[in-house]
Parts: sequence; C-alpha cells; structure tokens
Amino acid sequence: MPKGKTTVGPEELGPLIDENTIGIVAVVGTTFTGECDDVEGLDKMLQELKGKGLEVPMHIDAASGGFVFPFSHPDFEWDFRLDSVVSINTSGHKFGLVYPGIGWLLFRDEAQLPEDLVFYEDYLGEKDATFTLNFSGSASFVLAQYYNFVRLGYNGYASVVRAMETNCKAMAERLGQEEALEIFESDRPVLPLLICKVRDEESFDASHLVGELARRRGWLIPAYDMPPDNQDQKIIRMLVKLNQTRELVDALCDDYHDSIELLRSTDLSNVKDLPVHSGSGY
Ligand SMILES: Cc1ncc(COP(=O)(O)O)c(C=O)c1O
Repeated sequence: MPKGKTTVGPEELGPLIDENTIGIVAVVGTTFTGECDDVEGLDKMLQELKGKGLEVPMHIDAASGGFVFPFSHPDFEWDFRLDSVVSINTSGHKFGLVYPGIGWLLFRDEAQLPEDLVFYEDYLGEKDATFTLNFSGSASFVLAQYYNFVRLGYNGYASVVRAMETNCKAMAERLGQEEALEIFESDRPVLPLLICKVRDEESFDASHLVGELARRRGWLIPAYDMPPDNQDQKIIRMLVKLNQTRELVDALCDDYHDSIELLRSTDLSNVKDLPVHSGSGY
C-alpha cells in the first residue's frame, strides 16, 4: 500500500502480475477504512492482459461489502458484472445479520470449482456433493441466513442498510463538531463506518481516547495502525451496524465529548491517575 493510499488498483497490482500469477484479490469494503479497491480499473487491466494472451482471474473479498453495496450502491459494479470476477466471498455474520460465524463463497460458474475438490458420498441414501473444509457442522447459521433472506428480502436489507447509513451520518456530523478529531471522508462507496484520527496538536492520542472511552464508559473501540508506509497515524474505527441505534450514537458522541474534555485537562505523564468519571456512559 503506497504512502497516502488506502486502497489498491492497477498501478499497484499490475507490475506484480506475470505468467505465474494464478489470480488476484481485490477487497470491496476494506477492514481498514471500509473503502473499495479499484475493482473497475483492475478488471479493465485484466481484460487488456487477456487480449494479450495472459488470463488472470479476480476474486473479490466482499466480506463486509457483499451485504452492503448491493443495497447502498446498486449501480456500483464490483461483482460478476465485471468479466474478470470468478469468485466472491462474503460474511453472513457481518452485515448479513447472522450470528458468528457463517461465510459464503460464490463461484461465477461450475468451471471455477475443480472437480477433484468436490467430495461425493451417498451414505445418507442419495448422492450428495460436498465442498467444505470440515464435514459435520450445525446448520443453524444457514437457517438463520435463510430466515433473514425470506423475512427481509431485498427491500428489507436495503432498509436496514439505509438505517445504518443514516445513523453513521448522524455520528459523523456530531463527531465532526469535535475540534480534536479529524473525520475521514470519502466520496466513493464506503461501508457504514466512521474513521477518525486525533489531531496532532492535541495533548493526547487515539490510544488515550479509546482507553478512556473503554475504561470508564464501556465502549470497546479499536484504534490501530494503517498498513506499512502509512503508519504515521493511528486511526479510530466505529462500525455502525443495526444495533448502533440513534440513541447509542448520541450516547457515544456525548462520551466522546466528555472524554476529550477530561483528557485535555489531565496530565497524561501518569495515565493511571486519570480521575474516575461519574457522568454518562455504558
Ligand atoms: C476484508 C475481510 N476479508 C475477510 C474477513 C474474514 O471473514 P470471516 O470473518 O467471514 O472469516 C474479514 C473480517 O473478518 C474482512 O474484513
């Protein structure tokens, strides 16, 4: 990941491809910022290579995005609408609204699954084909996912994603008023999450802030480094899923405000001595 970039595209991956490349992977909804790799640019590059006789397929890691972008950005082409895409994974247990941990792997067509990876058995009375990493397992995840598909349908999932986006926007507006925070904004399709960093001028950093939010106010919020070459700043990430209601958004923003005020007035040379907070939280 080059400095200053948070996704990859043909400029980064193109030079790495040669006749030994069995495929490339692009992420749709990255763990770091919720953005998408330049899938359209990558597809264009792979189609050009195909024209020159080098056929390299693309897998899409849509662990989070697979259950978001079809609803929030239906015209965004990241899936089998792109000719190079042969397989897609998506996690039912993220925005698919199923408890952990079910994930899905979709192939464009049967040709993508080599026959010698399929195991056939008939000891349950009829011939079954199976392609799994383990054998016996609970079907409860599958039933829960199926229930959601039937119960919510396309419109239901779209409405759920809209609610997340509305709450995410409300959180961005409120936290944007905190001068200690810099909110990461993107005009490209992005997951319903909020990324921010603590401005360099502050006397505390992102670790102090999430530590304060966790210790006294019960919010478990990750603050982490970006990939190598971009590690000069820690970012804070908040996913706004369905259970992050507007009330919880407001409670979190209140706690951010109080925590920032508290940290600004605290001598951080001895972090253990932070005064115990008695206000809102939890
Ligand atoms: C981009 C991405 N790919 C893959 C995974 C792993 O998916 P799963 O948790 O379904 O195994 C994650 C997160 O867990 C992710 O964010």
